[in-house]
Amino acid sequence: MSEITSTLVTAPLPQVDTPLLAVALAQGAALPASLAELDRAADGGLARAVSSGDFTGKRDESLLLYPSGGKARRILLVGVGKSGEVTRSSIRRAAAVAAKRARVLGATQLAFAVATEARNGLAAKDLGQVIVEGAGQGAWAFTELKAAPDDPKPDVATVAIVCDAKEATQVAAGQKVGDAIAAGHRLARYLQMQPGNVCTPSYLADRAKQLAAAYGFGLTVLDRAAMIKEGMGALLAVAQGSAQEPRFIVLEHRGRGAADGATLALIGKGVTFDSGGISIKPAQNMEDMKFDMSGAAAVLGTFEALGRLQPKINVIGLIPSTENLPSGTAVKPGDVIKSHLGKTIEIINTDAEGRLILCDALSYVRRFKPTAVLDAATLTGAVVVALGHVAIGVMGNDETLLAEVQDAGERAGERCWPLPLWEEYRELLKSDIADVKNSGGRGAGTIAGGWFLREFVNGFPWVHLDIAGTAYTETEPPHQTKGPTAVGVRLFTEFVLKRAGA
Ligand code: BES
Ligand code: MN
Ligand code: ZN
Repeated sequence: MSEITSTLVTAPLPQVDTPLLAVALAQGAALPASLAELDRAADGGLARAVSSGDFTGKRDESLLLYPSGGKARRILLVGVGKSGEVTRSSIRRAAAVAAKRARVLGATQLAFAVATEARNGLAAKDLGQVIVEGAGQGAWAFTELKAAPDDPKPDVATVAIVCDAKEATQVAAGQKVGDAIAAGHRLARYLQMQPGNVCTPSYLADRAKQLAAAYGFGLTVLDRAAMIKEGMGALLAVAQGSAQEPRFIVLEHRGRGAADGATLALIGKGVTFDSGGISIKPAQNMEDMKFDMSGAAAVLGTFEALGRLQPKINVIGLIPSTENLPSGTAVKPGDVIKSHLGKTIEIINTDAEGRLILCDALSYVRRFKPTAVLDAATLTGAVVVALGHVAIGVMGNDETLLAEVQDAGERAGERCWPLPLWEEYRELLKSDIADVKNSGGRGAGTIAGGWFLREFVNGFPWVHLDIAGTAYTETEPPHQTKGPTAVGVRLFTEFVLKRAGA
């Protein structure tokens, strides 16, 4: 679904034969020199668009032209903002805006070029990668569950990266990474989009099985009985209210020998529907809680990318997965349960379930002797209050790893902002009856979630990513459809590839 193939074209712009040629342009009063030839073929239409002020080059701005000459049937100018501020993310976003427009126009092919003046020194490899990533993001749509879509459009089948022949090898290297990440992105969004009655814990386990079969990953899936044997009391407490069987999924990519040091672990929250349980949520927007498995989708999407790229590093993916529902068997406020690590937890609020399932994963992961552990979770509504829908909230126990994650987020266009896990905040989780309680009350909700997890981190550097504000959108953004964003796939993949030295 919405699969897009990338190609590379080294022809001069007027020679690019395509239904839609998108050109990324920075802000400026005049058309940049590098587009003079294309402008001549278009009978001066590009220069007029710029000099008239109809197109200014601001971020997300676009203008469609029908050139009189040249081989492109349409030219789309796409703004990337001020040239000195252009990053990988600006170009990726422009490619997404263009691909989204291509879909609306019914153009099944898109060619994308970046005016030299708008490049801000970006390496050719980066250009190749982010153009493919952006095109995949912008072109994506989900129509599978409608007999007849309201406004049927063909999928955008190909994106052609237009570049200079001298840079083709470098661009192609980036294109390969971009293709893999785009595929991971596509899988993650697909999984996120599935309704809760389809995407259950066993459905996620089946998808993990498909990935394992396709790419040779190791796979372990624990069912309820196996979780009882393991002593995963926190995950089981959340699962006990639901008729759906929980699953604990472990994928292993062995890019190096088992004896060889570095093992990264990626954990994703896989609550396939979060009603809140006995501490039930209000009905308003509760349907969005099908997205509470977005962390799991990020892990599976990342493994799709890793399977294609086969980086030389060991990566473990862990997904604790369950529904959170109220019933006569559901866990109740006041109940005390015993976690996999052995710490007891007083349940104050059954809606703080994400931290419960994650804490058992953080304990289980110790057997892999990980050198770094990242978890992604739609953990708190409070992170939306703190950072809106712009940034992932990050917390951890290791400043170096935190900086590394933030850096991967910048490269990925999935920006992270740190919140403090100071000792003072630990007080929030003190229980009168158990080792810790699962909810800290009103203030500092995101930090309380982070601190809860930290109580279960034992012996490895760790960073928690609260993606509740960034996993899906409630409104239609300019660069993709409304809904799932696959957040985490790009960040995780960037992080792993850098660690692998790729
Ligand atoms: N899945 C929710 C968090 C969430 C909220 C995700 C909004 C996406 C959008 C999580 O399980 C939850 O319910 N958190 C509670 C924690 C509280 C009870 C301590 C919250 O944020 O209200
Ligand atoms: Mn909840
Ligand atoms: Zn939740």
